[in-house]
Amino acid sequence: MSTAEYEPTTEYESTAHYESDVTVLEEQFVEPKSVGPIELESQDVSVWFGKRKVLEGVNIAFPKNTVTALIGPSGCGKSTYIRTLNRLHELIPGAALAGSVLYEGKDIYDTDIDPVHIRLQIGMVFQKPNPFPSMTIRGNVLSGLKLSGMKRDQHDDIVEETLTSAGLWNEVKDRLDSAAGELSGGQQQRLVIARALAVQPHVLLMDEPCSALDPTSTLKIEETVRELSKDITIVIVTHNMQQAVRVSDYTAFFLAAENEPGYVIEQGPTTDIFGSPQDQRTLDYVNGRFG
Ligand SMILES: Nc1ncnc2c1ncn2[C@@H]1O[C@H](COP(=O)(O)OP(=O)(O)OP(=O)(O)O)[C@@H](O)[C@H]1O
Ligand SMILES: [Mg+2]
Repeated sequence: MSTAEYEPTTEYESTAHYESDVTVLEEQFVEPKSVGPIELESQDVSVWFGKRKVLEGVNIAFPKNTVTALIGPSGCGKSTYIRTLNRLHELIPGAALAGSVLYEGKDIYDTDIDPVHIRLQIGMVFQKPNPFPSMTIRGNVLSGLKLSGMKRDQHDDIVEETLTSAGLWNEVKDRLDSAAGELSGGQQQRLVIARALAVQPHVLLMDEPCSALDPTSTLKIEETVRELSKDITIVIVTHNMQQAVRVSDYTAFFLAAENEPGYVIEQGPTTDIFGSPQDQRTLDYVNGRFG
């Protein structure tokens, strides 16, 4: 899909039956948690690939132990933005960045900060599950631990705890030494979530983690996200509006006009963004009228 230039429409083009959908969405709203301290925050983040600016002045604060959904049409810069939050962005050739990303109040781009350490604290789960297929299930969960220096005698506990948190333990506890490649797509996605959790991150970034999954696996991941958010801060990119409503406390809506950088049109509690958005473009997008 190309970057959609926003065009106001007068008719509903979505597959949704608007009124019944609103009722469904209202029933699904999660109560926003009271706002705790800000764990992660981007201040005026702009991004370029070569000479092309793709993101403009993004300011979002992520309160501790909450879920924030990033929504917006294809190409508006959601994946690019989420990669700036744990310094994966700088690994892309030609990528540049302006602005700051504060983690626990300190800029992760300061010269004295080790990016490897940042990526342990701020983990990432990608769109397509990416376990090591020939490595065992257990081996996959533990594969990030070398970097974090966790002791060996803690390994069995970590495998059980993280697979339980990721909602996979009961399905794999009797075959921890089987190859990860034998798992279904949904199970593999939960396995990589367990792998990300094994290094005990404080923040988990998830870039469309359910887009390759069936509805049952999707619901399991969503349950996992809600459960995990009791202890960690989660940022999730999704094209699925119902998913944003089901899992997130806060939502930020990104948009880019053709050949223009993306930016945040509107952000706030998910109930407000979906229930009473301030911007017509947000209203149109969340009702499936474009993008
Ligand atoms: N490695 C790259 N080199 C050059 N341009 C890039 C690169 N990655 C992304 N872009 C450009 O940056 C813009 C934002 O892309 P990005 O992947 O962040 O969008 P997105 O919102 O995640 O889209 P989608 O919903 O389709 O995943 C696009 O115009 C894209 O072409
Ligand atoms: Mg993307």
